[in-house]
Amino acid sequence: MKKYDNVFIFDHPLIKHKIAILRDKNTGMKQFRELIEEITTIMTYESMRDVELVPVQVETPLEVTTQYKVREESIAIVPILRAGLGMVNGVHRVFPTAKVGHIGMYRDEQTLEPKEYYCKLPQGIEDKTVFLVDPMLATGGSAVDALNALKKRGCTKIKFMAIIAAPCGLERVATAHPDVTVYVSTLDRQLNENGYILPGLGDAGDRLFGTK
Ligand code: PRP
Ligand code: URA
Repeated sequence: MKKYDNVFIFDHPLIKHKIAILRDKNTGMKQFRELIEEITTIMTYESMRDVELVPVQVETPLEVTTQYKVREESIAIVPILRAGLGMVNGVHRVFPTAKVGHIGMYRDEQTLEPKEYYCKLPQGIEDKTVFLVDPMLATGGSAVDALNALKKRGCTKIKFMAIIAAPCGLERVATAHPDVTVYVSTLDRQLNENGYILPGLGDAGDRLFGTK
């Protein structure tokens, strides 16, 4: 795949270990959900490297010192429903007070085109750093449309986190939204004829919520 300045692919042994268990068809719903959360937390740490810090005065038992904190109120999380919901707690572990918006989308099984069915975003989201999250980036249609929806609401600082991506979908998002940094834990080989990622992990929503 071509190199993109706005794409960050993780190459961390701990993530590889967790992804191996996540992919296994014998991994049950509880462990699947926990792994999605844990991987998201690791990704969140890395994706916050450029976050803005503000100076604060802290009184230690010995003296007053200037320290630096993230403005938690400047962070928002937006999962793409359904499967993105599985990543919200992973970001909340790092920023427990981050506000959460929701964008509902499903892929038409024939055309693979995303259909938006819900959108509710926190007030003032346009001033926040937004983490758009969805574990699966396949054709890239859902992510591109969700990013368009966020930009229509005035968001300018957006990071997109996906756990597994197909090369074609990743290229599509990186090209359509060069101003958005895309964090992907694992780049897979290809899509199959039904738009599923190979080797992938199957349907993330179904595995998270036990719907199949
Ligand atoms: C999955 C996944 C993404 C989308 C990725 O959702 O969670 O949102 O497919 O595919 P794309 O890159 O080709 O758009 P799905 O449509 O299965 O809905 P669900 O999460 O409600 O199961
Ligand atoms: N959505 C999923 O849940 N899995 C895939 O492999 C592709 C899209």
